[in-house]
Amino acid sequence: MCGIVGYIGNRDCTEILLGGLEKLEYRGYDSAGLALVDVDNNIILKKALGKLVNLKEEFKGFKNECHLGIGHTRWATHGRPSVKNAHPHLDCQERFILVHNGIIENYEELKEELINNGHTFQSDTDTEVIVHLVEENFDGDLLEAVKKTINTIDGAYALGIMDIKDPEILIAARHGSPLVVGGNEDEKFIASDTPAILKYTRKIFYMDDREIAVLKRNSIYFYDYEGKKIEKMHRILNWDPLMAEKAGYDHFMLKEIYEQPRAVRETLFSKIKKEKFFFEDLKIDKERLKDLRKINIVACGTSYHASLIGKFIFEKVLRIPVDVDYASEFRYRDPILDKDSVVIVVSQSGETMDTLEALRIAKDKGAYTIAIVNVFGSTMSREADGVIYTIAGPEIGVASTKAFTSQLMTLYSLSVYLGEKLGICFESDNVVRTLKTLSPMIETVIDDVDIYKQIATNYHKATDFLYLGRGINYPVALEGALKLKEISYIHAEGYPAGEMKHGPIALVENEVPSVFVVNKSPLYKKVISNIQEISARDGIIISIATNGDNLIQKYSNKVIYIPEIEEFYSPLLTVIPTQLIAYFIAKKRGADIDKPRNLAKSVTVE
Ligand code: AGP
Repeated sequence: MCGIVGYIGNRDCTEILLGGLEKLEYRGYDSAGLALVDVDNNIILKKALGKLVNLKEEFKGFKNECHLGIGHTRWATHGRPSVKNAHPHLDCQERFILVHNGIIENYEELKEELINNGHTFQSDTDTEVIVHLVEENFDGDLLEAVKKTINTIDGAYALGIMDIKDPEILIAARHGSPLVVGGNEDEKFIASDTPAILKYTRKIFYMDDREIAVLKRNSIYFYDYEGKKIEKMHRILNWDPLMAEKAGYDHFMLKEIYEQPRAVRETLFSKIKKEKFFFEDLKIDKERLKDLRKINIVACGTSYHASLIGKFIFEKVLRIPVDVDYASEFRYRDPILDKDSVVIVVSQSGETMDTLEALRIAKDKGAYTIAIVNVFGSTMSREADGVIYTIAGPEIGVASTKAFTSQLMTLYSLSVYLGEKLGICFESDNVVRTLKTLSPMIETVIDDVDIYKQIATNYHKATDFLYLGRGINYPVALEGALKLKEISYIHAEGYPAGEMKHGPIALVENEVPSVFVVNKSPLYKKVISNIQEISARDGIIISIATNGDNLIQKYSNKVIYIPEIEEFYSPLLTVIPTQLIAYFIAKKRGADIDKPRNLAKSVTVE
């Protein structure tokens, strides 16, 4: 998955595009490149391996005035990270220049045809076939050439294309990968995501699949793949560009951990009216739900862990069975769904390919689909039957934190709302009242970080961690393990605490820390026994426990306290220490916390 950005207009755009790529680096950072056309019609094309800072180095001292350009930051799919595989790519005549986010599935046969037609390739990428196809199809009209080209390729793509012989036009096309178009009076922008251009424009058009945009300084026209003009509505985004900045924190991840009190509060308040849960975007009524026998929740990664907690929430409130699937599994198991099914997809980005395809399968099978997403106008938000936004604000750190707790807040709210639709009055007032207390409670948990620095000092050299919890906190154990492994690169496993004795306890020795979620709950004594099983084998115990629990001190090397809360709501608190443990250990290890190796913020490829 990659990030693309483009500009055409009256301003000098080099810094605009480099700044835009900076906001998109979370989407991939194996290499970066920028192509510009200066006012004397010279082409400037620079590429660099690795992070954007290396490309910026290439532009040190660059003074040409440029009013047209396209840029790209890459997460390699086809072709190793290298300068030759970095975008932008050119055709044989070096006239057309292109950037691409996505995957071209039929690129091998296209490449063979093009080579047989005399084209020479400079890279190993799938992308390069597109720009040679444009060259092949060009007959004086770039829009026509692009139209022919995109009707030839299969796969997912967001494209930016320019013709150095016509620097008054920039063309974009979108199918399967996100792309937005931004516009002011005398300048236009394209970008994979809004933070890249928010600083310059709030007037945003979200492109849909099979759409082409023709941008000139003073105009934007949208077309379908048959070349028919289409009218698109723009939105005025009220996200403050500063939200997408680090605001003084060392990393976006830490900023986003600290934003959680606001994120969960705003997510909650966006869902209640007169102390009742209210989802105006859900076109779902009693009639639609009368034969509801099961709910499916489908997601990936952290969103999957939120979905597992959603199972506990929905089954307690609705007493209806809930199946939770990894999207990459759901897609291929021919799920049993029909018109009475409800399928909820959970995704921060709203673009994760596996989850998007799962959504499409559910729709094809007649299910009512709901997307819980954090990105306004994301593909899932526009393809699901109903959409619910988490109001976490832009989440830039690859490791998801505030989106996770906002997803939980949404799942609590939605469960009670659906209950009311089903005639189940699950103490709605008490739920609203309790959820309102969560935001200040999270504040207390993130208030004191010294203990996390101590944990990092003591255990940042460990090679293995176990995360253990029971019931609704078992998915918190999974999430804690994911957080640690994805940013510190320490192997970590999440497990049901009761499952330890069936194998994983063999991993325990005096160098292996085990993080236990052992807050006040009906299963507290069971978890204490599990802790004793490990400490009897010299394992290190880090406990996440409820304020006032002194007993736990006896069994733990370190205790992190959280405020007392009903177990049903506790994941909103117990997950916070796992985020901070991961953050401070990774920081102690000097890891690249916001851009961990091999990862990307949103995986829009299979
Ligand atoms: C979360 O910390 C990970 N970066 C990753 O597992 C992520 O949750 C997953 O890729 C799903 O992303 P989504 O929520 O945008 O669909």
